[in-house]
Amino acid sequence: MIYMDNSATTMPNEEVLSSFLEANRRYYANAASIHIAGRDADTLLKKAREQILSIVDAPDGNVIFTSGGTEANNLAVLGCARKHRNRGNHVITTVTEHPSILNAAHQLEREGFEVTYLTVNEHGLISLDDLKEKVRKDTILVSIMHVNNEIGTVQPISECSKIIKKQSRAIFHSDTVQSFGKLPVMLAEFSADAMTISAHKINGLKGSGVLITKKGILPESINYGGSQEFGIRSGTVSVPNAVAIARAMRLCTTERQASQHQIWREDLMTSIKALTEVKVLAENEAAPHILSIAFPYIKGEIAVNFFQEKGIMISTSSACSSKSNRASHVIEAIHVEEKYKHGVIRISFGNTTTEAHIVRVKEVLSEFVQLLRRGKTYEME
Ligand SMILES: Cc1ncc(COP(=O)(O)O)c(C=O)c1O
Repeated sequence: MIYMDNSATTMPNEEVLSSFLEANRRYYANAASIHIAGRDADTLLKKAREQILSIVDAPDGNVIFTSGGTEANNLAVLGCARKHRNRGNHVITTVTEHPSILNAAHQLEREGFEVTYLTVNEHGLISLDDLKEKVRKDTILVSIMHVNNEIGTVQPISECSKIIKKQSRAIFHSDTVQSFGKLPVMLAEFSADAMTISAHKINGLKGSGVLITKKGILPESINYGGSQEFGIRSGTVSVPNAVAIARAMRLCTTERQASQHQIWREDLMTSIKALTEVKVLAENEAAPHILSIAFPYIKGEIAVNFFQEKGIMISTSSACSSKSNRASHVIEAIHVEEKYKHGVIRISFGNTTTEAHIVRVKEVLSEFVQLLRRGKTYEME
């Protein structure tokens, strides 16, 4: 099998699995217990926290362990907005965020907050001038994703931060689920106040993530229980998951991987350009590991099934929307031409991708286009 769906999830790293097992075997005590076994587990938890903070260059920041990117995003949006309601009522996000941000923003609207959704251009980019216009004195939270999960667009996070900080006291959160480990993401450089990471996108384990915040910035809790994680995220902390995500983060070879992915992405784009029917989305605006392409007059699933028959796993624009018949909110937001709208696929590289995989993808792409030209795909539909 050639696995080219790394934006949906990645293969767990063996070292991460070993760390997880080892921590489960040796440090199963509750980190909140006061006996020695509990203290040992707590020490390990603290070490994982310190490692994570040092990796993202925020030594005096906070790490809140969560059940994944979804929960960390919910916590950032709901928790930060509710906590700062006394300062203002206005929240800004973008129309192409992951549903874990968008649906949390909709919840805020139901609670009486005013939410502005920044629109994007045909490549998925927000406009900095638009952001300048929209940030107000009463803006309390801005959440802008770093890399889009469907088409790969990279938003200018540092520039956004400058505008936000100049014009307001808003907390700036960025969903870095698709960028951490793929592009350099340091909280200091980035100048965001909070960021979300999901373990399973970086060869870690499913059901584990973190919200990292700068010193002095902590959201209000969105769940109720025994007040673990500084009272922000109740529930017995999974020390093995904490150890495993720290390990997965340490093992990321961001720069090396990104430059290799960029070469492969360009290589694939060159061969796609020879296939006139095919369109690349966010051609020059996307992260190196995501290639989003659109075919006219077909459904993306036709291409996904064709690739699958050839042993290659890809997805339609995103794993979340792949079972729906409608074009995704991202495809709608970038105003893809009607005939291409339903024929979007996403090829995403990871640390298991090889040169040979790329060669095979090129062959299968070209075979698929031949089939399209002969009109065979419509029969398959
Ligand atoms: C950009 C982005 N944010 C958040 C999430 C949610 O992460 P998780 O699957 O860990 O809940 C995803 C998952 O696909 C994502 O791509």
